[in-house]
Amino acid sequence: MDIARTPSTPDGNIEMADAAVEPKAPPEIRREDYTPFAWLVPATRLDFALGLEKTRVTATLEVERNPAADVSPTIRLNGDGLELVSLKCDGGDCAGHMMDGDDLVVTLEGDSHTLEIVTELHPSANSQLMGLYASGGMLCTQCEAEGFRRITFFPDRPDVLSTYTVTMRAPKKDFPVLLSNGNRVRMDDDGELLTAEWHDPWPKPSYLFALVAGDLVARTDHFTTMSGREVELNVWVRDGDLERTEHAMESLKRSMKWDEETFGREYDLDLFNIVAVSDFNMGAMENKGLNVFNTKYVLADPETATDGDYDGIEGVIGHEYFHNWSGNRITCRDWFQLSLKEGFTVLRDQLFSQDMSSAPVKRIEDVRVLRGAQFPEDSGPLAHPIRPDSYREISNFYTATVYNKGAEVIRMMKTLAGDEAFRQGTDTYFDRHDGEAATCEDFVRSIEDGAGLDLTQFRLWYSQAGTPKVSVNLTHHGDEAILELSQNVPDTPGQSGKKPMPIPLKIALFDRDKGTHAGEQLIVLDKASDTFRFPGFATKPVLSINRGFSAPVSIQRDIPGDELVFLAATDDDPFARYEAMQDLMVAYLVSASKGDLDEETRAAKQADIVRAIGRVIDDEAIEDLMRGELMSMPSQTYIMEQIDEADPARIFERREELKAVIGRELADGLRQLYQRSEKLPYSRSAEAKGARKLKTLVLSYLVASDPQGASALAAKQYENANNMTDRQGALMVLTGVDGAERTEALLDFYNRYRGNPLVIDKWFSLQAMSLHPEVIEHVKALAEHEDFTLKNPNRVRSLYMAFAANPHGFHTESGEGYRMIADLILELDPINAQTAARFVPALGRWRKMEPGRSALMREQLERIAAAPKLSRDTFEQVTRSLG
Ligand code: BES
Ligand code: ZN
Repeated sequence: MDIARTPSTPDGNIEMADAAVEPKAPPEIRREDYTPFAWLVPATRLDFALGLEKTRVTATLEVERNPAADVSPTIRLNGDGLELVSLKCDGGDCAGHMMDGDDLVVTLEGDSHTLEIVTELHPSANSQLMGLYASGGMLCTQCEAEGFRRITFFPDRPDVLSTYTVTMRAPKKDFPVLLSNGNRVRMDDDGELLTAEWHDPWPKPSYLFALVAGDLVARTDHFTTMSGREVELNVWVRDGDLERTEHAMESLKRSMKWDEETFGREYDLDLFNIVAVSDFNMGAMENKGLNVFNTKYVLADPETATDGDYDGIEGVIGHEYFHNWSGNRITCRDWFQLSLKEGFTVLRDQLFSQDMSSAPVKRIEDVRVLRGAQFPEDSGPLAHPIRPDSYREISNFYTATVYNKGAEVIRMMKTLAGDEAFRQGTDTYFDRHDGEAATCEDFVRSIEDGAGLDLTQFRLWYSQAGTPKVSVNLTHHGDEAILELSQNVPDTPGQSGKKPMPIPLKIALFDRDKGTHAGEQLIVLDKASDTFRFPGFATKPVLSINRGFSAPVSIQRDIPGDELVFLAATDDDPFARYEAMQDLMVAYLVSASKGDLDEETRAAKQADIVRAIGRVIDDEAIEDLMRGELMSMPSQTYIMEQIDEADPARIFERREELKAVIGRELADGLRQLYQRSEKLPYSRSAEAKGARKLKTLVLSYLVASDPQGASALAAKQYENANNMTDRQGALMVLTGVDGAERTEALLDFYNRYRGNPLVIDKWFSLQAMSLHPEVIEHVKALAEHEDFTLKNPNRVRSLYMAFAANPHGFHTESGEGYRMIADLILELDPINAQTAARFVPALGRWRKMEPGRSALMREQLERIAAAPKLSRDTFEQVTRSLG
């Protein structure tokens, strides 16, 4: 590739650097422009002289012409804010080199060369937490997606695979532990200086590189793989945190076993390290043999971690471990293929967690996440297909669409194929593409070939954005039930006039009187509309559809309330039963919030809901974890999504009112449930978890109807708690009500856990999420608290993500909530652009809101857009959101 002719390709861009004095609009990278890199880098040596203030990196790259690419006289090495100290080609001067923006472009005449590049870094000054940075006195790295270019000049793209040999030198006193990918091959200790050499035999892209240096201790264990290989496992944490690593270690061993049994995947090194760091932009990262985790997803004991935290740890440990095959052994050709590794790995972690606990409850939780995060994304200005067509900043595309819808799309293939054939498909994928940088197309073709499916039309799920709407109409004639289905895939930014997609729907037709059905069936709607006939019904059956949430679509149907009540009480598919309960409440809350119902109808509908919940309370056949799901109210955010020009205050009122009605009408049953649950001693069994879930749920209903009585009960639960689930649940309820109980509990909680950042994060979150009328004032005060800092992403999220997700606070009529989030974005952007940009989508929902709030939200987006120096991350999100 000739520099002058280089188009805008994923490996860098020329025009921008040439044309733009102020890079206001960063270039758009397009999927269709992909070209293979002109050079191979078979081997990479990295030498680090480590220090918090200053680190010197010497990178030695063996480069060869790529026979599969066009010949280029130069090699483009990406950089991001790097200081070049020196450059050598084959031990001497290079034929030529130049800086092009942040990239280094070196002229290379022959077919193979050795490049030596020296750069100097300042880890302590790195507040973006990308590349090499300092966290609590230790040094660590985060390279995905494009952080390696902040360490050294390199073709920082996932299709350039290299074997890495890493040497680290550091003062032993501060950095007694030195870790990198693969195996440790050497360790020298001269008393003061420690030198460690690591070698990773598996070729990998630069985004999987990692190093960690610090004063750490490990919980060590072992795992014997299915072929008999002994693997040493370590979970590295700061001294003092060791006792809280048992659950992480057990989760890791379960993950390794599960991947062998379920996908036939075995671990491939003698060592697997996990390191916990407290400053981290994401949850965790799958670097080869050296996973780096946010402490939030490692540390747990009953006193400081909730049941949700325990589940989160198991899921994230599984996720990162599973990437060893779906992501590392087979990686992505380019970042447009992100869902190849993330969608698939999310599906794998979901299936793992399903197998480890209650599968239906896990499925309900996953669907709730999809609907709460992905559906809004899919219907808003940031909508994109699971395989996007263009981006300006790839960090913005680690989205619920790529991850969660990506997982649903692969889950549909599994449903269509059946479990056994799907496994043949994944076997084909792993065999065929091992060691490669692959594409989503490679994956689909492997599943097609291995499972024996035709996925021609199914590929539309990769290219079309938007949540399909499926309209359902069931009629009955003679002895036939007739099901008419039609689908519509809504327009999204840049996409209109979409084609019908294949939608697999699991259905059952219930005999109304007997409460049974003749078997679940899978039907596939693959046309714009279609009719399915079912003979053998003397009377009209009750339809249960999209059972198990077999397709990520929105079902539109006019179903009579009594049929929902029937399904809520009798459906044998737990998901469908949950869905019926939700539909019942959503339908009521939507029409009540719109003001569509007269007093009498409202009372009648409330009574239906009360009866349905009453039955759930009384049904002894239901497990408590599931009972908790069936009794949960749809979130305010979800209800808002169902209404055009939503008025959050009205919805809040109606929803609180319904809670109060339930709390009042079912007070006795709820209190009995509470007392029964209270009796169970703490354990991590499903039964005990279910009981804890119910206690706090009951409190949240009772507090709506009887704030004082319930506050007393919550205060007692708080005081007597011997675990964080109970304590946090009680405090959550208390933060919503005024009174001495609230003040005392908050003070006690803070004093009890000061010095434990993860728990203090909860203290911030609970207050930011609360239903208290003065939540805005509370959040403002907390932002001034001595423990608040913009430097730590967990702390920022604990206050502001919680607040932005709290409609009651964020959507305050004055617009003050919007202003607070915009202020935060502007202040955080120069410190941590990735984290700042993640707050933009909250403001991007402006089109869905009633005109007053809509204008106020837009105003804040425009204020951000007008700021003089925005990061690429925030710039892209804000301009797309204004769209
Ligand atoms: N590969 C990602 C981590 C990552 C995300 C790096 C974005 C760079 C940018 C990792 O595998 C991941 O997906 N982590 C998730 C948790 C997971 C359970 C979905 C995360 O960090 O949120
Ligand atoms: Zn991942």
